[in-house]
Amino acid sequence: MMLKTIILVGGPMKGTRFRPLSLETPKPLFPVAGFPIIHHHVEACAQVEGMKEVILIGFYQPNDALNRFITQAQQQFKIQIRYLQEYTALGTAGGIYHFRDQILAGNPDYFFLMNADVCGDFPLKEMLQFHMKKPASTYCTILGTEATRQQSLTYGCIVESKDTHEVMHYVEKPETFISTTINCGIYLCSPTLFGPLEVEFKKNLEQNYNYDEQGFGCDYNTAPAKEVIRMEQDIFVPLASTGKLYVYHTDRFWSQIKSAGAAIYANRHYLDLYQKSHPERLAKNSVGKPQIRGDVFIHPSAQVHETAVLGPNATIGKNCVVGEGVRVRDSVILEGAVLQDHCCVLDSIIGWNSQIGVWTRIEGTPNDPNPNKPFAKIETTQTFTNDGKLNPSITVIGSDVQVPSEVIILNSIVLPNKELSGCYKNQIIL
Ligand code: GDD
Repeated sequence: MMLKTIILVGGPMKGTRFRPLSLETPKPLFPVAGFPIIHHHVEACAQVEGMKEVILIGFYQPNDALNRFITQAQQQFKIQIRYLQEYTALGTAGGIYHFRDQILAGNPDYFFLMNADVCGDFPLKEMLQFHMKKPASTYCTILGTEATRQQSLTYGCIVESKDTHEVMHYVEKPETFISTTINCGIYLCSPTLFGPLEVEFKKNLEQNYNYDEQGFGCDYNTAPAKEVIRMEQDIFVPLASTGKLYVYHTDRFWSQIKSAGAAIYANRHYLDLYQKSHPERLAKNSVGKPQIRGDVFIHPSAQVHETAVLGPNATIGKNCVVGEGVRVRDSVILEGAVLQDHCCVLDSIIGWNSQIGVWTRIEGTPNDPNPNKPFAKIETTQTFTNDGKLNPSITVIGSDVQVPSEVIILNSIVLPNKELSGCYKNQIIL
């Protein structure tokens, strides 16, 4: 069996809900539970027997951070990883069609297709077994999970045949309720999927071709439009009820990572997974070491004072310094940040190289409605309430921010390179 994985990493135009954190690093490389988001994808697919290559497709300019990630992950997982850059956003299926020759090189039996902005305990081996039991003419198996009626409206919704799990009806982000089974943005595809992709591509080409008055074909409309293919609307919608599209259900942890608040949720769940998959990554209590409560990841290069109390659900990044008596819970502390003595960080993200002064309190409000369920849509989609106030959220301190001593920063978002001078509550500090 020869398998590949394609990860759709998108590009710089997206991810505004992730600001200010995406100003510094492409969102797919944002660290969650000590590793970039897509490291967790690569790790999951590298465990499937026969996986030969991971191809990242996106429209970011390649940069040092991406190259470093690729080199490091190739070494760690002993698997070939490449980045293929789209010249413009080609949509969730346009990129894979554009790079079809590279994907099909070596004749893979199947390939996984993964959105970069999701996290979860991906049941890839189970999807493969499921897909192989379906008729050989099957194009694609979608990973599906159960959402509430309200949540479902912001996802792709699937109506299935209960006994065969065939997708009978697919609607992307419906206006009214269709089904609580939603698309997780993780697929297993057969190479034959390129058939309907080609049909769609050619249809677009025809539709975008203009004829001049004499009837001679001349010019194309704007270059990008003709190559854009949306997997959900252009491919899944017409494939429903044709016997070629199936859904595999999971009730394991899964969520989107669209906002900074979702990164805290993902952090908690990936740390929890480490108990099974990588217990060595979790910090342990011992004499002369900080007090650890629940799941905590501390990068080996971080300096943490023995009187600090960390966890549950805390990640301390590379080269961070955590002083005496510091308290951190449900938070991600990014590389190079300094938490001075006796400060307290709860439900927050502290950006790269930021400094938090002594006795300062940084606190957010988790908006996870149901922290114990494996699936929960954690973000309030609105940044502001109807009367113009900031919705309670986690606190996010951008990179290189100086927060003075003895202040409180509550439910606020601070953009990079600021020097704060007082307390803030429910504010965006530009
Ligand atoms: N390479 C590339 N090129 N990637 C893209 C492009 C593109 O033009 N457009 C989007 N992506 C990537 C994004 O970076 C993200 O990882 C993923 O594709 C999905 O992108 P969105 O377009 O933002 O869709 P969505 O997240 O709102 O919805 C999709 O995912 C949901 C699950 O999280 C849909 O597939 C839904 O049906 C699904 O429920």
